[in-house]
Amino acid sequence: TKVVADTGDFEQIAKYEPMDSTTNPTLILAASKKEEYAKLMDNAIEYGKSHGDTLEEKAENAIDKLLVEFGTEILKIVPGKVSTEVDARLSFDKEAMVSKAIDLMKLYDEAGISKERVYIKLSSTWEGIQAAKELEEKHGIHTNLTLLFSFVQAVACAEANVSLVSPFVGRITDYYKSKTGKDYPPEDDPGLKSVERIYYYYKKHSYDTVIMAASMRNIGQVKQLAGIDNLTLSLSVLDSLLNSHESIEKRLVPEDAKEKGDEKETFIN
Ligand code: E4P
Repeated sequence: TKVVADTGDFEQIAKYEPMDSTTNPTLILAASKKEEYAKLMDNAIEYGKSHGDTLEEKAENAIDKLLVEFGTEILKIVPGKVSTEVDARLSFDKEAMVSKAIDLMKLYDEAGISKERVYIKLSSTWEGIQAAKELEEKHGIHTNLTLLFSFVQAVACAEANVSLVSPFVGRITDYYKSKTGKDYPPEDDPGLKSVERIYYYYKKHSYDTVIMAASMRNIGQVKQLAGIDNLTLSLSVLDSLLNSHESIEKRLVPEDAKEKGDEKETFIN
């Protein structure tokens, strides 16, 4: 399992030595408020001022630049890849997502970052999946499909042959908790069950798409998913992992997929 840091705070990342890092606009915004990163915010504002005709365009260009400035700094620390997310407000507009992804990759290119080191993160809406398919096939841009809560979304992403999916754990569990008022032990955690089902399905049918469990809340959940391709973890979960001396045994193995994986779904083609 590859451990990935889910944060925009690149100086913190160094402590944990993850291979990759994922970001989203909320994480970048939180990091950009820190005094030590004021320079990046200033650069982004300066860039915005001189790019775009209207105030709206300038603001949008400044935000894109901020996302890429943070991504570029992160890539000085991690050896692998960074995920940069397209604003979720564009989630139902395929063309807008494609063009935003291309703009972001252009900024990475100007910063000297190769395409191979970036995943553009898109929502797993139908439009997001179609945007990802086009970006991967026509533009050679790798995508990470996020906000993935259901098996159907995961099947559609695999069929579209996207590079990576981020099925969520914590938000599913939180939703069930809020509805039933119950606590869910790991063996009964609906968020974990959802990700396990996707894992076995992908392995049974040999999809190339990488599965990265996201929205992880604690070590208990990490243990249940040990063996999955990637796990992206917040700084607080990374911290508890670093300070825990328990050994973690692999639970998910592709060999079990034959028996545990669902039969091939035919509802999407
Ligand atoms: C990662 O891809 C997601 O941005 C992240 O894991 C979401 O986690 P949250 O549920 O804590 O917001």
